[in-house]
Amino acid sequence: MSFLELEDVTASYGHVPVLHGMSLSLPENGAIGILGANGAGKTTTLRAISGMVKTTGRIMFDGKNIAGLGPYRTAKLGIAHIPEGRGTLPQLSVRENLLVGAYQRRDRKAVATDIDYCLDLFPNLEARIKASAAALSGGEQQMLAVARAFMAKPRLMLLDETSLGLAPTTGRLVYDAIIRLRRESRLSMIVVEQNAVLAFSVVDEAIVLETGRAVLTGSKAELMGMDAVRRAYLGG
Ligand SMILES: Nc1ncnc2c1ncn2[C@@H]1O[C@H](COP(=O)(O)OP(=O)(O)OP(=O)(O)O)[C@@H](O)[C@H]1O
Ligand SMILES: [Mg+2]
Repeated sequence: MSFLELEDVTASYGHVPVLHGMSLSLPENGAIGILGANGAGKTTTLRAISGMVKTTGRIMFDGKNIAGLGPYRTAKLGIAHIPEGRGTLPQLSVRENLLVGAYQRRDRKAVATDIDYCLDLFPNLEARIKASAAALSGGEQQMLAVARAFMAKPRLMLLDETSLGLAPTTGRLVYDAIIRLRRESRLSMIVVEQNAVLAFSVVDEAIVLETGRAVLTGSKAELMGMDAVRRAYLGG
């Protein structure tokens, strides 16, 4: 069994179904990208995994069915969800945000080491360590969101449109750090991105979602070789 496995998962808001039988399989230390147009169900897939939306079907994480556990318990099991656009606490400083990320941990020395690691990963944050998150640029806020999630020592990171609204060079900078994070820690990742070039720079495999269904699944090389994927997501 894979580290994370979605089997025929449906999700709905109220009575409106949005995912119609989504399946996905992610090995430990693997990374998978989810591509798709606006409204396809990418965010809802992440919400289904972290328990923020009503689902049916099985969501197996490390041998346990986590469907319906809710966000607090999935976080405790090691799933860090970095939601679109709001992964930080604006009133708190950069350092406080990092400490909040680590609030479940008791290993204070390792927390201090991990803060240093985050600042090495994102040197921009080091200069801003005492600034409130609200005062950061959009790029710095996304860096902080990723760093804060890392501070919880998760085993699975769910990234939702981390590059959205960033200048291309800033998006690249953030994703270079995510690539390094993946290489240097034992993390599995699901990367939701409209920017497929950035997503493909991190992941091994990808899924294309259309109206709540996976219509294509394959290795990065397979998908990047498909005309339909190149036209829709890679600009030719
Ligand atoms: N809180 C909500 N209540 C009701 N419907 C919702 C809610 N959130 C999303 N939806 C609907 O669910 C469908 C899937 O939305 P979702 O946010 O998962 O798409 P997405 O692929 O992440 O899109 P985007 O690229 O715009 O972020 C859409 O039709 C959307 O309108
Ligand atoms: Mg979304």
